[in-house]
Amino acid sequence: MVSKYRPSPDQQQDSTFVIPMEEKNRSGGLAWSKVEPESLGPVPKPPILLSDLQQKKKFLRVLAGDREESPPVWIMRQAGRYLPEYRQLRARARSFLEFCYSPALASEAALQPIRRFGFDAAILFSDILTIPDALGRKVHFDEGKGPRLAPLVEEQNWRFDEPTRALQRLAPVYETVERTRAALDPQTALIGFAGGPWTVACYMLQGEGGEKDVARRAAYQRAHEVDVLLVILAETTALHLAQQARMGADCLQIFESWAQGLSTALFTRLVIAPTRHIVARLRALGVSAPVIGFPRAATETQIELYARETGVTALSLDTAAEPASFRNLGLPLQGNLDPQLLVTGGAPLERGVRECLDAFSASPHIFNLGHGITPDASPDNVAHMIRLVRGA
Ligand code: CP3
Repeated sequence: MVSKYRPSPDQQQDSTFVIPMEEKNRSGGLAWSKVEPESLGPVPKPPILLSDLQQKKKFLRVLAGDREESPPVWIMRQAGRYLPEYRQLRARARSFLEFCYSPALASEAALQPIRRFGFDAAILFSDILTIPDALGRKVHFDEGKGPRLAPLVEEQNWRFDEPTRALQRLAPVYETVERTRAALDPQTALIGFAGGPWTVACYMLQGEGGEKDVARRAAYQRAHEVDVLLVILAETTALHLAQQARMGADCLQIFESWAQGLSTALFTRLVIAPTRHIVARLRALGVSAPVIGFPRAATETQIELYARETGVTALSLDTAAEPASFRNLGLPLQGNLDPQLLVTGGAPLERGVRECLDAFSASPHIFNLGHGITPDASPDNVAHMIRLVRGA
């Protein structure tokens, strides 16, 4: 049977993969078995033409290539446990996923750091693991232990629900996007996001965070199934991001938090190809929102390949990456203050912010951390960081 995901003739530019679907499983979901990579053309880069309304957002101007007197600023995981008001709000839902699927609570969580700090961008409050959850792989968050899933590697046959049906389960997430957008002022951008397919696959294969040994072994031993899994994730993720953009996200970020420790051959197969599929698919769907790619802790060569081949608009750099090495790519860069400096504060924080501003001064720059803020960080240090970035 030919997949409904085969692009129509007028969408040929996104024809990265074709997914024929085979045998129906007992629960009515679909098992997937074959992937045919098609020839890869360049991913289209839509010109970034900002409307009058979008021009008001410094964050979007920088993504369009402008350099600003002081960079726009937001931080990864800006809504979260370091904020007392978040902890209080979070107590109103039994489980973390229930919290994510409650538009009133989730949109409030996204707005809290905007009210307190006036960041230039809000980020949708959700999680990268809503995708496996929607595909029928139950996700649990054990208090203090992080996410837990039933590891795919322990199963003989891998079955998932069909992507378009899976996305219907994520309707509350799109309502959260809509509510958050409606509550933001015109200067503040809204970022939608998803996990990179490999990062999400790592959690699904391995069943938890931590070492990625089991996931990497599966990429060799069950190569074909892993490739199919990545196609399913890339396709579902593209549709998920497209819907966020339609509901009001101005920009989309792909968190590839587990891009490290891969040979370049594996990085190309597991990270670049699926990411390229997402971006190409978004463009074919008519979504022109800028896409920020975050291939965390990959090597310099790999990050450069990622920037050139996936079609992303901008690169988010982790703390170890040297901005100067990526200047020549001509892309806006985001990053990369050490999150630990928001725990220490004081002179190290002040020096860190100064060095970060200097290091990125040759590129359009979005000020951010190199990874998410930690629960033990101090809100006062965040406020101080923002004052330093804005030169106040
Ligand atoms: O402001 C924001 O950025 C909020 C939205 C957001 C969350 N998770 C909320 C969250 C975003 C963008 C994420 C991304 C995410 N989730 C990533 C990629 C970024 C990264 O940090 O590398 C990953 C790998 C996940 C998976 C995940 N979800 C982990 C590893 C954890 C931590 C578990 C723990 O207990 O420390 C989560 C849970 C999670 N996601 C929390 C929040 C605020 C904390 C749980 C809670 O509040 O109960």
